[in-house]
Amino acid sequence: MKERETFASRLGFVLISAGCAIGLGNVWRFPYIVGQYGGAAFVLIYLVFLVIMGLPIMAMEFAVGRASRKSVLASFQELEPKGSKWHVYGWFGMAGNYLLMMFYTTIAGWLLLYFLKMAKGDFVGMTSGQVTDAYQNLVGNDPVIQLVFMAIVVLLGMAICSRGLQNGVEKVNKIMMLCLLALLVVLAIRAVTLEGAAEGLKFYLVPNFDNLMYDAEGNFRLGEAIYAAMGQAFFTLSLGIGAMAIFGSYIGKERRLFGETINVGVLDTCVAFVSGLIIFPSAFAFDISPDAGPNLIFVTLPNVFNEMPGGRLWGALFFVFLFFAALSTVTAVFENILACWMDRWNISRSKAVLANLILIFLLSLPCLLGNNLWSGVKILGMGIMDFEDFLVSNNLLPLGSMVYLLFCCLPARYGWGYQNFLAEANQGQGVRFPAPLRWYYTILLPLIVLIIFVMGYIEKFF
Ligand code: PHE
Repeated sequence: MKERETFASRLGFVLISAGCAIGLGNVWRFPYIVGQYGGAAFVLIYLVFLVIMGLPIMAMEFAVGRASRKSVLASFQELEPKGSKWHVYGWFGMAGNYLLMMFYTTIAGWLLLYFLKMAKGDFVGMTSGQVTDAYQNLVGNDPVIQLVFMAIVVLLGMAICSRGLQNGVEKVNKIMMLCLLALLVVLAIRAVTLEGAAEGLKFYLVPNFDNLMYDAEGNFRLGEAIYAAMGQAFFTLSLGIGAMAIFGSYIGKERRLFGETINVGVLDTCVAFVSGLIIFPSAFAFDISPDAGPNLIFVTLPNVFNEMPGGRLWGALFFVFLFFAALSTVTAVFENILACWMDRWNISRSKAVLANLILIFLLSLPCLLGNNLWSGVKILGMGIMDFEDFLVSNNLLPLGSMVYLLFCCLPARYGWGYQNFLAEANQGQGVRFPAPLRWYYTILLPLIVLIIFVMGYIEKFF
Protein backbone atom coordinates (compact mmCIF):
# COMPACT_ATOMS: atom_id res chain seq x y z
CA MET A 1 0.00 0.00 0.00
CA LYS A 2 1.20 3.50 -0.87
CA GLU A 3 2.25 5.73 2.00
CA ARG A 4 -0.25 8.49 2.85
CA GLU A 5 0.82 12.01 1.87
CA THR A 6 1.52 14.56 4.61
CA PHE A 7 1.95 18.34 4.79
CA ALA A 8 5.44 19.78 4.42
CA SER A 9 5.05 22.24 7.28
CA ARG A 10 2.86 23.25 10.17
CA LEU A 11 2.28 26.64 8.54
CA GLY A 12 1.03 24.80 5.46
CA PHE A 13 -1.47 22.85 7.54
CA VAL A 14 -2.77 25.92 9.37
CA LEU A 15 -3.05 27.99 6.20
CA ILE A 16 -4.77 25.34 4.16
CA SER A 17 -7.26 24.61 6.94
CA ALA A 18 -7.84 28.33 7.20
CA GLY A 19 -8.10 28.42 3.41
CA CYS A 20 -10.87 25.84 3.57
CA ALA A 21 -12.66 27.81 6.27
CA ILE A 22 -12.15 31.20 4.63
CA GLY A 23 -14.34 31.45 1.57
CA LEU A 24 -17.65 32.75 0.34
CA GLY A 25 -18.85 32.31 3.92
CA ASN A 26 -16.57 35.11 5.06
CA VAL A 27 -16.50 37.51 2.19
CA TRP A 28 -19.97 37.12 0.69
CA ARG A 29 -22.29 35.52 3.23
CA PHE A 30 -21.00 37.16 6.42
CA PRO A 31 -21.33 40.79 5.27
CA TYR A 32 -24.77 40.35 3.77
CA ILE A 33 -26.13 38.52 6.81
CA VAL A 34 -24.67 41.11 9.17
CA GLY A 35 -26.26 43.76 6.96
CA GLN A 36 -29.64 42.05 7.11
CA TYR A 37 -29.60 41.54 10.87
CA GLY A 38 -28.63 45.02 11.81
CA GLY A 39 -24.86 45.08 12.35
CA ALA A 40 -22.76 44.96 15.50
CA ALA A 41 -25.15 43.24 17.93
CA PHE A 42 -25.48 40.35 15.48
CA VAL A 43 -21.70 40.11 15.18
CA LEU A 44 -21.46 39.66 18.94
CA ILE A 45 -23.83 36.69 18.95
CA TYR A 46 -22.01 35.14 16.03
CA LEU A 47 -18.70 35.41 17.91
CA VAL A 48 -20.22 33.67 20.92
CA PHE A 49 -21.31 30.74 18.75
CA LEU A 50 -17.90 30.48 17.15
CA VAL A 51 -16.34 30.02 20.55
CA ILE A 52 -18.89 27.87 22.36
CA MET A 53 -19.62 25.46 19.56
CA GLY A 54 -17.38 26.08 16.58
CA LEU A 55 -14.05 25.48 18.29
CA PRO A 56 -14.84 22.22 20.13
CA ILE A 57 -16.46 20.69 17.05
CA MET A 58 -13.54 21.61 14.81
CA ALA A 59 -11.10 20.02 17.28
CA MET A 60 -13.22 16.85 17.15
CA GLU A 61 -13.11 16.75 13.36
CA PHE A 62 -9.33 17.16 13.36
CA ALA A 63 -9.03 14.40 15.96
CA VAL A 64 -11.13 11.93 13.96
CA GLY A 65 -9.03 12.71 10.90
CA ARG A 66 -5.70 12.40 12.67
CA ALA A 67 -6.54 9.20 14.53
CA SER A 68 -7.98 7.44 11.49
CA ARG A 69 -5.63 8.88 8.85
CA LYS A 70 -8.58 8.70 6.50
CA SER A 71 -11.10 10.94 4.73
CA VAL A 72 -14.70 11.24 5.88
CA LEU A 73 -15.82 8.26 3.81
CA ALA A 74 -13.48 5.85 5.56
CA SER A 75 -12.63 7.46 8.90
CA PHE A 76 -15.50 6.22 11.08
CA GLN A 77 -14.82 2.60 10.11
CA GLU A 78 -11.37 2.82 11.62
CA LEU A 79 -12.51 4.11 15.00
CA GLU A 80 -16.06 2.88 15.65
CA PRO A 81 -16.85 -0.12 17.89
CA LYS A 82 -17.46 -3.34 15.95
CA GLY A 83 -20.99 -3.66 14.68
CA SER A 84 -21.95 0.01 14.91
CA LYS A 85 -23.21 2.10 12.04
CA TRP A 86 -21.31 5.38 12.33
CA HIS A 87 -19.57 4.73 9.02
CA VAL A 88 -22.85 5.18 7.16
CA TYR A 89 -22.50 8.90 7.82
CA GLY A 90 -19.37 8.85 5.66
CA TRP A 91 -21.56 8.77 2.57
CA PHE A 92 -23.59 11.75 3.73
CA GLY A 93 -20.40 13.64 4.50
CA MET A 94 -19.08 12.96 1.03
CA ALA A 95 -22.43 13.95 -0.51
CA GLY A 96 -22.24 17.20 1.48
CA ASN A 97 -18.90 18.04 -0.11
CA TYR A 98 -20.32 17.46 -3.58
CA LEU A 99 -23.47 19.43 -2.87
CA LEU A 100 -21.48 22.38 -1.60
CA MET A 101 -19.37 22.41 -4.74
CA MET A 102 -22.45 22.15 -6.93
CA PHE A 103 -23.27 25.79 -6.23
CA TYR A 104 -19.92 27.08 -5.02
CA THR A 105 -18.23 26.68 -8.42
CA THR A 106 -20.85 28.88 -10.10
CA ILE A 107 -20.48 31.72 -7.60
CA ALA A 108 -16.69 31.43 -7.72
CA GLY A 109 -16.99 31.75 -11.51
CA TRP A 110 -18.94 35.00 -11.13
CA LEU A 111 -16.18 36.37 -8.93
CA LEU A 112 -13.53 35.59 -11.50
CA LEU A 113 -15.64 37.17 -14.22
CA TYR A 114 -16.23 40.27 -12.09
CA PHE A 115 -12.51 40.58 -11.52
CA LEU A 116 -11.94 40.67 -15.29
CA LYS A 117 -14.82 43.09 -15.85
CA MET A 118 -13.47 45.42 -13.17
CA ALA A 119 -9.97 45.28 -14.58
CA LYS A 120 -11.26 46.00 -18.09
CA GLY A 121 -13.27 48.94 -16.80
CA ASP A 122 -16.62 47.52 -17.92
CA PHE A 123 -18.52 49.28 -15.16
CA VAL A 124 -16.99 52.71 -15.67
CA GLY A 125 -19.70 55.32 -16.17
CA MET A 126 -22.61 52.98 -15.44
CA THR A 127 -25.44 54.19 -13.25
CA SER A 128 -26.43 52.13 -10.27
CA GLY A 129 -29.43 50.74 -12.15
CA GLN A 130 -27.24 49.68 -15.04
CA VAL A 131 -24.90 47.83 -12.67
CA THR A 132 -27.83 45.89 -11.26
CA ASP A 133 -29.13 45.16 -14.76
CA ALA A 134 -25.71 43.91 -15.81
CA TYR A 135 -25.70 41.43 -12.91
CA GLN A 136 -29.24 40.23 -13.55
CA ASN A 137 -28.52 39.90 -17.21
CA LEU A 138 -25.46 37.78 -16.58
CA VAL A 139 -27.12 35.44 -14.11
CA GLY A 140 -30.52 35.31 -15.76
CA ASN A 141 -29.74 35.38 -19.46
CA ASP A 142 -26.20 34.28 -20.05
CA PRO A 143 -25.63 30.62 -19.17
CA VAL A 144 -22.83 30.29 -21.70
CA ILE A 145 -20.45 32.78 -20.19
CA GLN A 146 -21.23 31.45 -16.71
CA LEU A 147 -20.54 27.96 -17.95
CA VAL A 148 -17.14 29.01 -19.27
CA PHE A 149 -16.16 30.56 -15.95
CA MET A 150 -17.54 27.71 -13.86
CA ALA A 151 -15.50 25.32 -16.02
CA ILE A 152 -12.38 27.42 -15.47
CA VAL A 153 -12.91 27.20 -11.71
CA VAL A 154 -13.33 23.42 -11.79
CA LEU A 155 -10.29 23.05 -14.05
CA LEU A 156 -8.11 25.33 -11.94
CA GLY A 157 -9.11 23.58 -8.72
CA MET A 158 -8.44 20.13 -10.14
CA ALA A 159 -5.19 21.25 -11.77
CA ILE A 160 -3.93 22.39 -8.37
CA CYS A 161 -5.03 19.16 -6.69
CA SER A 162 -3.54 17.02 -9.43
CA ARG A 163 -0.07 18.22 -8.48
CA GLY A 164 -0.35 16.46 -5.14
CA LEU A 165 -0.83 17.54 -1.57
CA GLN A 166 2.50 19.26 -0.95
CA ASN A 167 3.28 20.62 -4.40
CA GLY A 168 -0.26 21.52 -5.37
CA VAL A 169 -2.75 22.17 -2.61
CA GLU A 170 -0.31 23.20 0.10
CA LYS A 171 1.99 25.37 -2.01
CA VAL A 172 -0.68 27.21 -3.98
CA ASN A 173 -2.99 27.75 -1.02
CA LYS A 174 -0.14 29.07 1.10
CA ILE A 175 0.64 31.70 -1.52
CA MET A 176 -3.03 32.58 -2.07
CA MET A 177 -3.71 32.92 1.64
CA LEU A 178 -0.71 35.16 2.22
CA CYS A 179 -1.67 37.41 -0.73
CA LEU A 180 -5.22 37.48 0.55
CA LEU A 181 -4.21 38.59 4.03
CA ALA A 182 -2.03 41.36 2.59
CA LEU A 183 -4.74 42.54 0.17
CA LEU A 184 -7.25 42.62 2.98
CA VAL A 185 -5.20 45.03 5.01
CA VAL A 186 -4.63 47.37 2.06
CA LEU A 187 -8.31 47.43 1.16
CA ALA A 188 -9.46 47.93 4.74
CA ILE A 189 -7.18 50.95 5.09
CA ARG A 190 -8.61 52.35 1.85
CA ALA A 191 -12.20 51.78 3.02
CA VAL A 192 -12.00 53.21 6.53
CA THR A 193 -10.26 56.36 5.32
CA LEU A 194 -13.05 57.15 2.83
CA GLU A 195 -15.01 60.29 3.50
CA GLY A 196 -18.24 59.27 5.22
CA ALA A 197 -16.87 55.93 6.44
CA ALA A 198 -17.70 56.72 10.07
CA GLU A 199 -21.41 55.91 9.71
CA GLY A 200 -20.60 52.48 8.34
CA LEU A 201 -18.13 51.79 11.13
CA LYS A 202 -20.78 52.73 13.64
CA PHE A 203 -23.32 50.34 12.09
CA TYR A 204 -20.76 47.56 12.09
CA LEU A 205 -19.05 48.08 15.42
CA VAL A 206 -21.41 49.78 17.87
CA PRO A 207 -24.11 47.33 19.03
CA ASN A 208 -27.69 48.48 18.68
CA PHE A 209 -29.98 45.77 20.05
CA ASP A 210 -33.09 47.25 18.52
CA ASN A 211 -31.59 46.67 15.09
CA LEU A 212 -31.06 43.06 16.00
CA MET A 213 -34.46 42.37 17.53
CA TYR A 214 -36.65 44.12 15.00
CA ASP A 215 -36.54 44.22 11.22
CA ALA A 216 -37.06 47.32 9.10
CA GLU A 217 -40.86 46.97 9.41
CA GLY A 218 -40.68 46.65 13.19
CA ASN A 219 -41.37 42.88 13.33
CA PHE A 220 -39.76 40.97 16.18
CA ARG A 221 -37.14 38.54 14.80
CA LEU A 222 -34.64 37.77 17.54
CA GLY A 223 -35.05 33.97 17.18
CA GLU A 224 -34.42 34.13 13.48
CA ALA A 225 -31.32 36.27 14.05
CA ILE A 226 -29.89 33.80 16.55
CA TYR A 227 -30.58 30.97 14.15
CA ALA A 228 -28.79 32.82 11.37
CA ALA A 229 -25.79 33.50 13.63
CA MET A 230 -25.45 29.83 14.54
CA GLY A 231 -25.78 28.67 10.94
CA GLN A 232 -23.18 31.15 9.86
CA ALA A 233 -20.77 29.82 12.50
CA PHE A 234 -21.06 26.26 11.11
CA PHE A 235 -20.77 27.40 7.54
CA THR A 236 -17.79 29.66 7.99
CA LEU A 237 -15.78 27.07 9.93
CA SER A 238 -16.63 24.30 7.40
CA LEU A 239 -17.96 21.97 10.08
CA GLY A 240 -19.95 18.77 9.85
CA ILE A 241 -18.99 17.13 6.55
CA GLY A 242 -15.39 16.16 7.21
CA ALA A 243 -13.98 19.08 5.22
CA MET A 244 -11.70 19.86 8.17
CA ALA A 245 -11.15 16.27 9.29
CA ILE A 246 -9.25 15.52 6.10
CA PHE A 247 -6.48 17.96 7.03
CA GLY A 248 -6.18 16.33 10.44
CA SER A 249 -5.40 13.15 8.55
CA TYR A 250 -2.34 14.73 6.94
CA ILE A 251 -0.52 15.96 10.08
CA GLY A 252 1.78 14.44 12.65
CA LYS A 253 1.32 14.21 16.39
CA GLU A 254 3.61 17.11 17.37
CA ARG A 255 0.89 19.62 18.26
CA ARG A 256 -2.21 19.43 20.42
CA LEU A 257 -5.28 19.89 18.25
CA PHE A 258 -7.14 22.52 20.23
CA GLY A 259 -4.30 25.00 19.79
CA GLU A 260 -4.37 24.47 16.02
CA THR A 261 -8.14 24.88 16.06
CA ILE A 262 -7.76 28.24 17.75
CA ASN A 263 -5.28 29.36 15.08
CA VAL A 264 -7.66 28.44 12.27
CA GLY A 265 -10.66 29.97 14.04
CA VAL A 266 -8.84 33.23 14.68
CA LEU A 267 -7.68 33.52 11.06
CA ASP A 268 -11.17 32.81 9.77
CA THR A 269 -12.72 35.34 12.10
CA CYS A 270 -10.16 38.00 11.21
CA VAL A 271 -10.93 37.66 7.51
CA ALA A 272 -14.69 37.88 8.07
CA PHE A 273 -14.23 40.83 10.38
CA VAL A 274 -11.99 42.72 7.98
CA SER A 275 -14.33 42.00 5.05
CA GLY A 276 -16.95 43.85 7.05
CA LEU A 277 -14.49 46.68 7.61
CA ILE A 278 -14.16 46.97 3.84
CA ILE A 279 -17.79 46.62 2.86
CA PHE A 280 -19.75 48.64 5.42
CA PRO A 281 -17.71 51.85 5.37
CA SER A 282 -17.71 51.72 1.55
CA ALA A 283 -21.44 51.09 1.34
CA PHE A 284 -22.29 53.89 3.76
CA ALA A 285 -19.84 56.30 2.19
CA PHE A 286 -21.66 55.89 -1.12
CA ASP A 287 -25.18 55.67 0.25
CA ILE A 288 -25.77 52.04 -0.51
CA SER A 289 -28.05 50.10 1.80
CA PRO A 290 -26.27 47.29 3.71
CA ASP A 291 -29.32 45.01 3.70
CA ALA A 292 -29.30 44.21 -0.02
CA GLY A 293 -29.01 40.46 0.69
CA PRO A 294 -27.07 37.85 -1.29
CA ASN A 295 -26.50 40.23 -4.18
CA LEU A 296 -24.75 42.74 -1.90
CA ILE A 297 -21.28 42.38 -3.31
CA PHE A 298 -22.33 42.05 -6.95
CA VAL A 299 -24.81 44.88 -7.27
CA THR A 300 -23.48 47.35 -4.75
CA LEU A 301 -19.73 47.11 -4.83
CA PRO A 302 -19.19 47.92 -8.50
CA ASN A 303 -21.11 51.13 -7.75
CA VAL A 304 -18.90 51.85 -4.82
CA PHE A 305 -15.78 51.38 -6.88
CA ASN A 306 -17.24 53.47 -9.68
CA GLU A 307 -17.43 56.46 -7.44
CA MET A 308 -14.09 55.95 -5.82
CA PRO A 309 -10.96 57.58 -7.20
CA GLY A 310 -8.83 54.77 -8.68
CA GLY A 311 -11.89 52.54 -8.38
CA ARG A 312 -10.98 50.31 -11.28
CA LEU A 313 -7.80 49.21 -9.55
CA TRP A 314 -9.39 48.85 -6.11
CA GLY A 315 -12.34 46.99 -7.57
CA ALA A 316 -10.15 44.57 -9.49
CA LEU A 317 -8.08 43.96 -6.37
CA PHE A 318 -11.19 43.39 -4.33
CA PHE A 319 -12.65 40.79 -6.67
CA VAL A 320 -9.34 39.00 -6.98
CA PHE A 321 -9.31 38.83 -3.20
CA LEU A 322 -12.80 37.33 -3.16
CA PHE A 323 -11.82 34.89 -5.86
CA PHE A 324 -8.73 33.67 -3.97
CA ALA A 325 -10.85 33.10 -0.90
CA ALA A 326 -13.33 31.04 -2.92
CA LEU A 327 -10.67 29.10 -4.84
CA SER A 328 -8.83 28.11 -1.68
CA THR A 329 -12.07 26.57 -0.40
CA VAL A 330 -12.71 24.88 -3.73
CA THR A 331 -9.28 23.22 -3.76
CA ALA A 332 -9.62 22.19 -0.12
CA VAL A 333 -13.00 20.56 -0.70
CA PHE A 334 -11.81 18.95 -3.96
CA GLU A 335 -8.88 17.49 -2.01
CA ASN A 336 -11.34 15.96 0.43
CA ILE A 337 -13.41 14.47 -2.37
CA LEU A 338 -10.32 13.07 -4.09
CA ALA A 339 -9.08 11.59 -0.82
CA CYS A 340 -12.44 9.84 -0.39
CA TRP A 341 -11.97 8.17 -3.75
CA MET A 342 -8.33 7.32 -3.12
CA ASP A 343 -9.05 5.89 0.36
CA ARG A 344 -12.09 3.95 -0.62
CA TRP A 345 -11.26 2.59 -4.05
CA ASN A 346 -7.50 2.64 -3.80
CA ILE A 347 -7.07 4.45 -7.11
CA SER A 348 -4.34 6.90 -8.08
CA ARG A 349 -4.65 10.65 -7.59
CA SER A 350 -4.66 11.29 -11.33
CA LYS A 351 -7.50 8.86 -11.96
CA ALA A 352 -9.52 10.41 -9.15
CA VAL A 353 -8.85 13.87 -10.60
CA LEU A 354 -9.98 12.87 -14.06
CA ALA A 355 -13.19 11.25 -12.88
CA ASN A 356 -14.09 14.15 -10.59
CA LEU A 357 -13.22 16.81 -13.11
CA ILE A 358 -16.01 15.50 -15.29
CA LEU A 359 -18.34 14.62 -12.43
CA ILE A 360 -18.14 17.99 -10.67
CA PHE A 361 -18.49 19.88 -13.92
CA LEU A 362 -21.70 17.99 -14.68
CA LEU A 363 -22.98 18.28 -11.13
CA SER A 364 -22.48 22.05 -11.23
CA LEU A 365 -24.78 22.44 -14.22
CA PRO A 366 -28.18 22.31 -12.47
CA CYS A 367 -27.34 25.28 -10.24
CA LEU A 368 -25.99 27.26 -13.16
CA LEU A 369 -29.01 26.55 -15.35
CA GLY A 370 -31.38 27.01 -12.42
CA ASN A 371 -30.94 30.76 -12.67
CA ASN A 372 -31.89 30.93 -16.35
CA LEU A 373 -33.01 28.10 -18.63
CA TRP A 374 -34.35 26.02 -15.73
CA SER A 375 -35.63 28.90 -13.65
CA GLY A 376 -39.08 27.29 -13.62
CA VAL A 377 -37.77 24.33 -11.58
CA LYS A 378 -38.75 24.65 -7.91
CA ILE A 379 -38.06 22.12 -5.19
CA LEU A 380 -39.97 22.69 -1.94
CA GLY A 381 -40.54 26.21 -3.17
CA MET A 382 -36.83 26.88 -3.72
CA GLY A 383 -34.79 27.44 -6.85
CA ILE A 384 -32.03 24.92 -7.50
CA MET A 385 -29.21 26.98 -5.98
CA ASP A 386 -31.20 27.76 -2.85
CA PHE A 387 -32.23 24.14 -2.50
CA GLU A 388 -28.64 22.91 -2.69
CA ASP A 389 -27.57 25.53 -0.17
CA PHE A 390 -30.48 24.52 2.06
CA LEU A 391 -29.50 20.83 1.96
CA VAL A 392 -25.95 21.63 2.96
CA SER A 393 -26.26 24.59 5.31
CA ASN A 394 -29.51 23.69 7.06
CA ASN A 395 -29.15 19.93 7.13
CA LEU A 396 -25.80 18.32 6.58
CA LEU A 397 -23.68 20.85 8.48
CA PRO A 398 -25.69 20.89 11.74
CA LEU A 399 -26.56 17.18 11.67
CA GLY A 400 -23.04 16.21 10.70
CA SER A 401 -21.62 18.35 13.48
CA MET A 402 -23.86 16.45 15.86
CA VAL A 403 -22.51 13.16 14.51
CA TYR A 404 -18.93 14.27 15.23
CA LEU A 405 -19.92 15.53 18.68
CA LEU A 406 -21.64 12.34 19.75
CA PHE A 407 -19.06 10.11 18.13
CA CYS A 408 -16.31 11.75 20.16
CA CYS A 409 -18.12 12.27 23.46
CA LEU A 410 -20.30 9.19 24.06
CA PRO A 411 -18.77 6.31 26.04
CA ALA A 412 -16.56 3.94 24.03
CA ARG A 413 -19.30 1.30 24.02
CA TYR A 414 -21.39 3.50 21.74
CA GLY A 415 -18.91 5.57 19.79
CA TRP A 416 -15.21 6.31 19.60
CA GLY A 417 -15.12 7.15 23.32
CA TYR A 418 -14.33 10.41 25.07
CA GLN A 419 -11.05 9.15 26.53
CA ASN A 420 -9.83 8.01 23.13
CA PHE A 421 -10.77 11.35 21.65
CA LEU A 422 -9.00 13.27 24.44
CA ALA A 423 -5.88 11.16 24.12
CA GLU A 424 -5.74 11.96 20.40
CA ALA A 425 -6.53 15.66 20.73
CA ASN A 426 -3.99 16.20 23.51
CA GLN A 427 -1.02 14.51 21.89
CA GLY A 428 1.88 16.87 21.37
CA GLN A 429 2.50 20.41 22.53
CA GLY A 430 0.19 23.37 22.79
CA VAL A 431 -3.24 24.14 24.22
CA ARG A 432 -5.14 21.25 25.82
CA PHE A 433 -8.74 20.48 24.95
CA PRO A 434 -11.04 21.75 27.77
CA ALA A 435 -11.82 18.24 29.03
CA PRO A 436 -13.93 18.88 32.17
CA LEU A 437 -16.80 20.25 30.06
CA ARG A 438 -17.86 16.80 28.91
CA TRP A 439 -21.46 17.18 30.15
CA TYR A 440 -21.66 20.30 28.04
CA TYR A 441 -20.45 18.56 24.87
CA THR A 442 -22.59 15.46 25.36
CA ILE A 443 -25.85 17.07 26.47
CA LEU A 444 -26.08 20.81 26.07
CA LEU A 445 -24.27 21.25 22.77
CA PRO A 446 -26.22 18.54 20.88
CA LEU A 447 -29.37 20.12 22.27
CA ILE A 448 -28.38 23.53 20.96
CA VAL A 449 -27.57 22.01 17.58
CA LEU A 450 -30.90 20.22 17.53
CA ILE A 451 -32.68 23.47 18.26
CA ILE A 452 -30.91 25.18 15.35
CA PHE A 453 -31.99 22.36 13.15
CA VAL A 454 -35.64 22.45 14.14
CA MET A 455 -35.76 26.23 14.05
CA GLY A 456 -34.23 26.13 10.58
CA TYR A 457 -37.13 24.02 9.39
CA ILE A 458 -39.76 26.09 11.09
CA GLU A 459 -38.34 29.28 9.66
CA LYS A 460 -38.12 27.82 6.20
CA PHE A 461 -41.51 26.18 5.92
CA PHE A 462 -43.94 27.86 8.30
N1 PHE B 1 -16.27 27.58 5.14
C1 PHE B 1 -16.47 27.71 3.74
C2 PHE B 1 -16.69 29.19 3.44
O1 PHE B 1 -16.69 29.99 4.33
C3 PHE B 1 -17.62 26.90 3.24
C4 PHE B 1 -17.57 25.47 3.59
C5 PHE B 1 -18.56 24.90 4.35
C6 PHE B 1 -16.51 24.67 3.17
C7 PHE B 1 -18.52 23.57 4.70
C8 PHE B 1 -16.46 23.33 3.49
C9 PHE B 1 -17.47 22.78 4.27
O2 PHE B 1 -16.89 29.55 2.32
